[in-house]
Amino acid sequence: MSAEPQRHVILNVNVLDVGITHDAWRHNNLDRLAFVDAGYFQRIGQIAERGTLDAFFLADGPGLREDPRFKPSRSLEPTLILAAVAAVTENLGLIGTASSTFNDPWELAYRFQSLDYVSGGRAAWNVVTTYSPDVAGNFGLPELPDRDARYRRASEFVDVVTALWRSANGGPPVEHRGEFFTVSGRLPVPVSAQGFPLLVQAGGSPAGRELAGREANAVFSAELSLRAGIDHYNQVKAVAARAGRDPAHVKILPGLITTIGSTEQEAYRRHEETQVSAPDGFPLTRLAGSLGVAPDELDPDAPLPRKVLDGPPDPKHFKASLGFRESVVRLAQDENLTVRDLLTQLAGGGGHRKIVGTPEQVADTIERWFRAGAADGFNLMPDRFPDGLEVFTDHVVPLLRQRGLFRHEYESRTLRGRLNIPISSSVAAVSAAS
Ligand SMILES: Cc1cc2nc3c(=O)[nH]c(=O)nc-3n(C[C@H](O)[C@H](O)[C@H](O)COP(=O)(O)O)c2cc1C
Repeated sequence: MSAEPQRHVILNVNVLDVGITHDAWRHNNLDRLAFVDAGYFQRIGQIAERGTLDAFFLADGPGLREDPRFKPSRSLEPTLILAAVAAVTENLGLIGTASSTFNDPWELAYRFQSLDYVSGGRAAWNVVTTYSPDVAGNFGLPELPDRDARYRRASEFVDVVTALWRSANGGPPVEHRGEFFTVSGRLPVPVSAQGFPLLVQAGGSPAGRELAGREANAVFSAELSLRAGIDHYNQVKAVAARAGRDPAHVKILPGLITTIGSTEQEAYRRHEETQVSAPDGFPLTRLAGSLGVAPDELDPDAPLPRKVLDGPPDPKHFKASLGFRESVVRLAQDENLTVRDLLTQLAGGGGHRKIVGTPEQVADTIERWFRAGAADGFNLMPDRFPDGLEVFTDHVVPLLRQRGLFRHEYESRTLRGRLNIPISSSVAAVSAAS
């Protein structure tokens, strides 16, 4: 028998309020205020833990991003919801997104280390730089800093946060002076069961991939085709290797939107049901925004215009995510899609792959991507909660177990233990040790 533990698919659930589809909230028979009810998130956490999923994931944007007339919007601060979920679960990882552009590193290190301690070593911080221009005004800025400045700040922010976490683990007090921050001190929080939180990253531009390869333990990515998924996977792992890290210590987890039925027909019926009343013009406006053009520059019956295919006019000042943009453009080109086809493929999902089908088909996709070297696992995005997650845990998880791809029970109570990430797994740690 091999001493190596079986390598499993990593499965997190990305709890996008009531579901990824625009219309989920009209169909899930929930109280209309479920998306601001801690008990609702706790029930979803318990379903995820019943299915032995790796972690509960929350996105964030410190501001009102979407028109609330169309869709309930991310509302409660993620670490608070995660603390509520921690109280009713024992093993489930807890990943919270927080922006490095609009937070303070000491305060963020304190908050996540506290969550990590009280949850018994289950926390992770998903670092993003935030692209929504509406947020800047909330923090007194006239506009969003450009991408380069945001990523320079992100890199320094991550260095300070990880140095603070290491200092709480017996490392020296932090004495940092940089372009953005001056921090002198340490955290009052004790060492957690996993030492300190893991670091996740989302953002697929070259600067985003560089940050991920150098520092992150996992990446939440947006990939629409297997080929693009393999390219991205290899790029991030190559950055990690160049930086002197073990590439196995940065896990690549694309989003996967699921609509599941016991037959294909049933799955497509459910898909229709959750899409039909997306408000007129909303998906087109959203797509245009993520491509950096006005909605009237997209003809529904034509392929993407030259202007879009040639790239954003000025990548430095292009406000949306380059990672999302690249995955959408690549899909349209690879599969020769019109704008209308693209809208059907993407409905509600931005740049994430969507599968509508039976549990076997969902398990097949997961297995194909895992074995092809496009993913170490997935950030699952059920069409709607809670039934979209229940059907996954009750019908897809058993198939993955039968195929030897997923655990039958939790093998470690900490997230770090399950993902097999040593405490010395970032460039900062590699250089501090040498
Ligand atoms: C899969 C994925 C998920 C993201 N989730 C969030 C999020 O929850 N909150 C947020 O502010 N930004 C999020 N972002 C965007 C980041 O803010 C990112 O740092 C910024 O837009 C730059 O993206 P880029 O590197 O792809 O250009 C996400 C990006 C990707 C690719």
